[in-house]
Amino acid sequence: MIFVSIDDNEMHNLRQIMDEIFGEQNFIAQLIWDKTRKNDAKLFSAGHEYILVYAKSLLLLREQNTVWREEKPGAKEIIQEWRRLAKIHGDSYHEIEVELALWYKALPQKHPAKKLSRYRHVDKWGPWRDRDISWPGGGGPRYDVIHGKTGLPCPVPERGWIYATLEQMQKQINLGLVVFREDHTEPPIRKAHLFPVAEELDEISDDAEEVDDDTTLDDENVGLQVMPTYIYKQAQSSVKLLRQIFDGKKVFANPKDHEVLVRLFRYASPPDALILDSFAGSGSTAHAVLEANKLDNGTRRFILIEMMDYAETITAERVRRVMSGYGKGNKAVAGLGGSFDYYTIGEQIFNDNDTLNETVGTETIRHYISYSEGISSEYRIASWNTYTPYLIGLNSDTAWIFYYEPEEVTCLDLDFLSSLKFGTNKPATVIIYADKCLLTKEFMAKHGIIFKKIPRDITRF
Ligand SMILES: C[S@@+](CC[C@H](N)C(=O)[O-])C[C@H]1O[C@@H](n2cnc3c(N)ncnc32)[C@H](O)[C@@H]1O
Repeated sequence: MIFVSIDDNEMHNLRQIMDEIFGEQNFIAQLIWDKTRKNDAKLFSAGHEYILVYAKSLLLLREQNTVWREEKPGAKEIIQEWRRLAKIHGDSYHEIEVELALWYKALPQKHPAKKLSRYRHVDKWGPWRDRDISWPGGGGPRYDVIHGKTGLPCPVPERGWIYATLEQMQKQINLGLVVFREDHTEPPIRKAHLFPVAEELDEISDDAEEVDDDTTLDDENVGLQVMPTYIYKQAQSSVKLLRQIFDGKKVFANPKDHEVLVRLFRYASPPDALILDSFAGSGSTAHAVLEANKLDNGTRRFILIEMMDYAETITAERVRRVMSGYGKGNKAVAGLGGSFDYYTIGEQIFNDNDTLNETVGTETIRHYISYSEGISSEYRIASWNTYTPYLIGLNSDTAWIFYYEPEEVTCLDLDFLSSLKFGTNKPATVIIYADKCLLTKEFMAKHGIIFKKIPRDITRF
């Protein structure tokens, strides 16, 4: 997955570039992030930015039946309260329901859980509410559902039953996810749990899922929700937070809001994701990764890249402070824990004309060649091997030879070949880097030799 944050100016160009690189078919969403109102704007206040989301392979997500959901605000508090009550009352669900109703009532008007107060019933799975039992859009199946006590059929809803067959309906009744009323004069009740139980989620037939009817298949109304493409979060709060981390100083303009990132990471990445931000700036991505891990016990890791000289003093420093805690007295914020390594990049290995920059030294060049050949670390020969000089890697199939001398032109010929010793285990393929090659193609093919020219200018010798 890749998430790219950008404002109005370049959005249209970015989308075309992304289509070209990742493929139109991998477009997921163009999120709109509403950040500010610019009251001084003459025409429109463009206070929003975008986050463009592409998958490496949307097909793979489809094949894996990936569904992204987030907790509905307030749901967690209700679950906590239910757990508390369940500890006291056990399976006396009625008593739990009475107390839960009082709890909802006592919540402040603006509390997000207040909106979920329809979840006032309780069973062994937790709080639930009544949900429509009819086929979305109408024209659903009609069959007799016999009331358990009276032995008479319940009325079929106008739009037909939500379950395609009587067997499916019976399964839900047996599970306790559909319950009868007092008698057969009304259709049974279908439960929607605040945190849906598995059988509740996969119950819907494919046909029903196609129907766009917001009175029925509404994840909106259960404890999980799908994320809309519109996010509202004022820019100011991330600016304030960054100042707080840096003892009131303004160290960076335009930091991303790490809470929005936390939400996105938790929404769209697995709890063990590796998250790369190659334009790290104030380090908000690392902050968000640590915070997300704290919220869901995840083990996400991060890689940040920053090219400016503040990589150490701002980017890395923020991560250090967030890990170990910052602020003093009653403004102290506890650390989120964790650790990281800090690296700077060395001298460039290639000159602008793609030849080797030999001033970096033989060791560095050897190391680079091992890396670019993809030799895994266990097969690398890190130091000079007097038995087989120039050897940089060896496994049971392949030997890699880097025949390089800083001050002379090297030549792959029979003399050099005879100097190589592999004992009895001569690998099938020998990859040899040199400046020149005097062996014929036929000879090399016969002996499994592959010649690779060292990319350097040898006219100076
Ligand atoms: C808009 S800022 C990112 C803000 C960041 N997400 C935050 O919340 O603070 C872009 C950052 O990318 C860095 N940058 C730009 N091009 C880069 C490159 N090629 N390699 C590494 N960093 C780069 C800039 O120096 C700048 O700090």
